[in-house]
Amino acid sequence: MDTILFLGTDTEVIPNLIHYYYKNSKDNDSFLKAVNSACKDLKGSYAIEVICKDFPDTMIVAKKDSPLVIGTCNNENYVASDIPAILSYTKNFYLLEDNEIVELYKDKIHFYNNNLEEIKKEIKNIEWDATSSEKAGFPDYMLKEIYEQPNSVRETIGSRLKIGEKVNFDDIYISKEYLEKVNKIYLVACGTAMHAGLSIKPMLEQLCKIPVIVDVASEFRYRNPLIDSNTLCIFISQSGETADTIAALKLAKLNNSKTIAISNVIGSSITREADYTIYTHAGPEIAVASTKAYTAQVTLLALLSIYFAETLGNDVERIENIKKEILALPEKIQSILDNVSQIESFASKVYNEHDIFFLGRGIDYTVALEASLKLKEISYIHSDAYAAGELKHGPIALIENGITVIGIITDPSIIEKTISNIQEVITRGAKTFIVTNQNLNNDNYNEVIKIPSTDAMISPILSVIPLQLFAYYISKEKGLDVDKPRNLAKSVTVE
Ligand code: M6R
Repeated sequence: MDTILFLGTDTEVIPNLIHYYYKNSKDNDSFLKAVNSACKDLKGSYAIEVICKDFPDTMIVAKKDSPLVIGTCNNENYVASDIPAILSYTKNFYLLEDNEIVELYKDKIHFYNNNLEEIKKEIKNIEWDATSSEKAGFPDYMLKEIYEQPNSVRETIGSRLKIGEKVNFDDIYISKEYLEKVNKIYLVACGTAMHAGLSIKPMLEQLCKIPVIVDVASEFRYRNPLIDSNTLCIFISQSGETADTIAALKLAKLNNSKTIAISNVIGSSITREADYTIYTHAGPEIAVASTKAYTAQVTLLALLSIYFAETLGNDVERIENIKKEILALPEKIQSILDNVSQIESFASKVYNEHDIFFLGRGIDYTVALEASLKLKEISYIHSDAYAAGELKHGPIALIENGITVIGIITDPSIIEKTISNIQEVITRGAKTFIVTNQNLNNDNYNEVIKIPSTDAMISPILSVIPLQLFAYYISKEKGLDVDKPRNLAKSVTVE
């Protein structure tokens, strides 16, 4: 039979193809053979579970370039696209590789390669507590996950950081000789994970003195990027299953770059592709809007930046202070979470707006981008983030009487500049909501949220928290489904 080319997501062609092979087969294991033959014809990515009325106790499962896990416990087996989906049933998982095929019964599982030779697979025990994938008294997963951040940051720091000692990344081996040869570092990811990369770029560059490029995975993979064996490519993905990020990683490997994956999910696809993996320990993130993954990613990347700088022998004086500030983060996040009424009240005043703009400079601009994404994805309010200095190059034309502008002002070295940009929008009638760790004259603004100070390089881990809450409360005011916004999936496993 000729190869069939599927365009789009015409999955219904697959059962027809399986049926074609099934009809022509006379063997007892005809169901398994039919699915395997069909899979050999398929082009592109897929993850399938197949049932057949002639084999009521059997399910055949196969995948290629799409995630699929099998959970197992006493006389019960489960199939899902990711671990959190079935975590409340089991902690024992088989992680399926491409071109493997599985025969699943209620109480037994057989794994085969695509020549239908039986193979053995190891069970992976996932340490996540089942209750960590429940709401635990919170009305939504998103709010629960926002409130988990003191702990998820603490867990991500773990034993990597102790005062007076070098940061510990014994789980990856990056030598001084290698780092001295690195010509640039790429941070590649999508959405919020990409914003984590943007937020850490200044720190990584300044501590390591190596150029850092942050790229969107879907652009990187088609850009023909200038990378070689002296380029270090770091891929960030909470789920570890984002199709574009995985494809970008494969491209970097083809170009002989060293690759590091940063993921929150043990054994996820990205971790199996990369040369090295380091994990954020945020626990399962269920809400589509990513919150605790971002702060955990920035924390881990900050530690990694220090590790590289210490390995290179750079900038030791500032590093000691940043280390102290990293250890103080969980408590400072908690103090923000203990005072949310002001944020909730401002959200209740502006939830009906059509447009909300975010402004910031430098590292604050990276938080503006993340805050704007959070707001638009769960509130459906149009929102954009601008580097404050860019206002007069176009965006200021959008500012009119009554419009809401959120300013982020944490970096003392550019505070006056940002204040002057915010003044420009106030003059044109904007309502302003400011997130800052500075002592500003509150009378100038409609609302000022004061957050604790920290080293400017890690300030996004604190300044993002009120803005996650702002997006959350706006979505609640509008009566929307905070955890499952329209048109979005938690893991984007297709292009
Ligand atoms: O699982 P990943 O970190 O690879 O996901 C990347 C993006 O799809 C994700 O961050 C998305 O932008 C979030 N919904 C944002 O809240």
